[in-house]
Amino acid sequence: MANHIKISPSLLAADFAHLGDSIAAVEEAGADELHFDVMDGNFVSNITVGIPVLEAIRPFTKLPIDVHMMVLEPARYAQAFADAGGDIFTMHVEACDDLEASLGDARVAGMTAGVSLKPDTPASVLQSTLPLIERALVMTVEPGFGGQSFMPEMLPKITELQDMARTAGHELEIAVDGGIKVDTAGEVIDAGATTLISGTGVFNFPDGMKIGIEAIRTAGS
Ligand code: DX5
Ligand code: ZN
Repeated sequence: MANHIKISPSLLAADFAHLGDSIAAVEEAGADELHFDVMDGNFVSNITVGIPVLEAIRPFTKLPIDVHMMVLEPARYAQAFADAGGDIFTMHVEACDDLEASLGDARVAGMTAGVSLKPDTPASVLQSTLPLIERALVMTVEPGFGGQSFMPEMLPKITELQDMARTAGHELEIAVDGGIKVDTAGEVIDAGATTLISGTGVFNFPDGMKIGIEAIRTAGS
């Protein structure tokens, strides 16, 4: 296990009535970055939060914020999310008409360009754009809701992406999102994930977030 495993708590599981306090607490508990889920009611059926909320929470943390765009044609909003304080812009390949151009828009806006794959989307769709992708996000549930069960059949996709990047000599961060908890984290770390996004697994950890984050981070063999 060469890499430091990063933990990115998903704010979807935080207390929305006290978001600033929740963010300060999860940073204090050892989070490496924060995950901000944006849903548009079209790409996924659910609707969550957007630009004004990101702007409001930005002063509460110095951690990088990963904006997970579950939105059709997300690149339309790259500059606005960058201005609101986003650091990583994770777009779904299924939502982009022109992935290459979308990745360019994210980088021009000054953010790390990330691409997310729904469970049914194979790793191979990223082959041609791989050199432009700084971070891949493998969904281990169907996007749309927190608190769902982890899909172990996604594990080979993590390894496949790692192999693709290695073969291409390209540095690629691999994140996973959905159902990541202490009991599922070990498998994804062993498969090659370097960033673990976890909502309910961190915020609802029975012994508190600090112990939960450390337990998830060190779950690999
Ligand atoms: C689901 C979101 C996730 C969600 C994960 O579409 O992308 O980030 O918050 O929640 P847990 O970790 O509870 O499965
Ligand atoms: Zn997410």
